[in-house]
Amino acid sequence: MSIDPLQLVYQYHHESKHHPERYAPGPGGLDWATQPDPFRVYEGAPALDLDLGADCQTLAFTAARAGMRLDPSPLDLMHIGVLLELSFGLSAWKSYGHSRWALRCNPSSGNLHPTECYLVTTDQLHLEAGVYHYVSRDHSLEQRALFEPKLQTGSPSNGLVLALSSIHWREAWKYGLRAYRYCQHDAGHALAAVGYAAAALGWRVVRLGWSDAELAAALGLDRAQDFDPAEREAPDLALWVGDEEAPQATLDALLTAPRRFAGVANRLSPDHLDWYGIETVHQACERPTIEPKTDEKAPPLPPILPIECTASAANLIRRRRSAVAFDGTTQLPAEHWFAMLDALLPRSVLPPHDTWNRRPLIHLVLFVHWVEGVDPGLYVLLRDEAAISRLRPSLRDDWSWERVSNAPAHFSLWRLVQADARAAARGLSCHQDIAADSCFAVAMLAEFDAALKDGPWHYRELFWECGLLGQILYLEAEAAGVRGTGIGCFFDDAVHDLLGIRDSRWQSLYHFTVGGPLEDLRLQTEPPYAHLDRTAA
Ligand SMILES: Cc1cc2nc3c(=O)[nH]c(=O)nc-3n(C[C@H](O)[C@H](O)[C@H](O)COP(=O)(O)O)c2cc1C
Repeated sequence: MSIDPLQLVYQYHHESKHHPERYAPGPGGLDWATQPDPFRVYEGAPALDLDLGADCQTLAFTAARAGMRLDPSPLDLMHIGVLLELSFGLSAWKSYGHSRWALRCNPSSGNLHPTECYLVTTDQLHLEAGVYHYVSRDHSLEQRALFEPKLQTGSPSNGLVLALSSIHWREAWKYGLRAYRYCQHDAGHALAAVGYAAAALGWRVVRLGWSDAELAAALGLDRAQDFDPAEREAPDLALWVGDEEAPQATLDALLTAPRRFAGVANRLSPDHLDWYGIETVHQACERPTIEPKTDEKAPPLPPILPIECTASAANLIRRRRSAVAFDGTTQLPAEHWFAMLDALLPRSVLPPHDTWNRRPLIHLVLFVHWVEGVDPGLYVLLRDEAAISRLRPSLRDDWSWERVSNAPAHFSLWRLVQADARAAARGLSCHQDIAADSCFAVAMLAEFDAALKDGPWHYRELFWECGLLGQILYLEAEAAGVRGTGIGCFFDDAVHDLLGIRDSRWQSLYHFTVGGPLEDLRLQTEPPYAHLDRTAA
């Protein structure tokens, strides 16, 4: 008898929880001999080098976050390269002793980077219609497939499909069962990274409703013969990126037209541990074709609160980093904090919310440590005021729920209790000091049961939405002169106990922290692409 996929999702969620006395099942130590190669390449697929052109993008971050767009950049190879450079390209190399590792514009749990990026395109200038895989180390596109017969779409295309997939093994190597969650977080960060990069180029991003099976076939991920069985890629999502809505005939052709594949995926590790629970939950979460729809519109919000920042969006994106430690003393001015929180509200026309455009299902619990003019304590920010009638009865009934009087009028920001929340934040985040030494830390609360009732695959989407919010916090923090760090390690039910959550209507799915960073002065930093000797266009 087959088990209900929804039940499998609940089972996975439960079993992948960390507890103070027992972490989720993991490998029990790092086996360096099987550390996965962070760079996938398709051996035998022709590669096409891209220019490094991000320096030429001038749109200010303040303008990008407010939804201002320059005229759309031409959809040529140079600007496609910029899109990829700003979303998935390298941002630096770090070294310490004999170890050397790359950082990228998109963050990743443990810097393991399970997310892979593909393009599916009609003929573009200097790019033949086909399927391409991006190699961030080389800033190149591998020609994974050409359409055969050649694609006839009639008119020149005004956009292309950018698709994401995950190699679960990369995360599972370090994190075991919980890795599936981190792959989804990373996909959410990646989605937002594409949203910001496209905005810098004046392009729009629309999520497509392609099913997992359709996407796997379109990208060649279903070709078992091209992959080591333990290193297969799971299809995540597909986006139309361009200057206008996608013509349906073009989309149909990109999805279904016959194509001839080239290349074989490189082997990432000489050996693997099997994490059956990950395969099981992934199958349970398989996404069918979804009719692209926009959820009912949230009440209109006033224009986003302005910030002061002189950096271009491109520069800010490339200097984003995770803080490894905080000073414990930096005070964040309240107006900076409010502007940061405002950027999390669902304005569907602003990047990266334009990549999402769904009813918000994630709300924030805030551990405020050092925000000028705001008492330390525990707060709730509802991204949709209507959620209060569902959240409040699920939490402890002795929280004070005082509206924050100096917050902007459109905020649904509530103080639960005034307190020094540092020990709680640290303790709940697997005892990590970064949750306590910051200006504020966040627990992202999902409307869990309600989302899953619409289909088990919404489990993945909840994590994607968390990742999207995390990416906003990363860039907003950089713009405010502080720094953020994602926190995937937290004690799930201990967070719920603190808040008074007794069932699965609400679940904490991701933590985040923002504060004054301390640099690790032992590390050497090198520029991202000095090894390529490729001049900027
Ligand atoms: C989903 C996710 C979870 C993370 N969890 C933690 C964490 O628990 N603790 C931590 O110190 N850093 C955490 N990080 C930060 C990563 O270690 C960091 O993104 C990675 O090392 C790459 O560095 P960069 O963000 O500076 O590019 C997390 C990042 C992401 C995206």
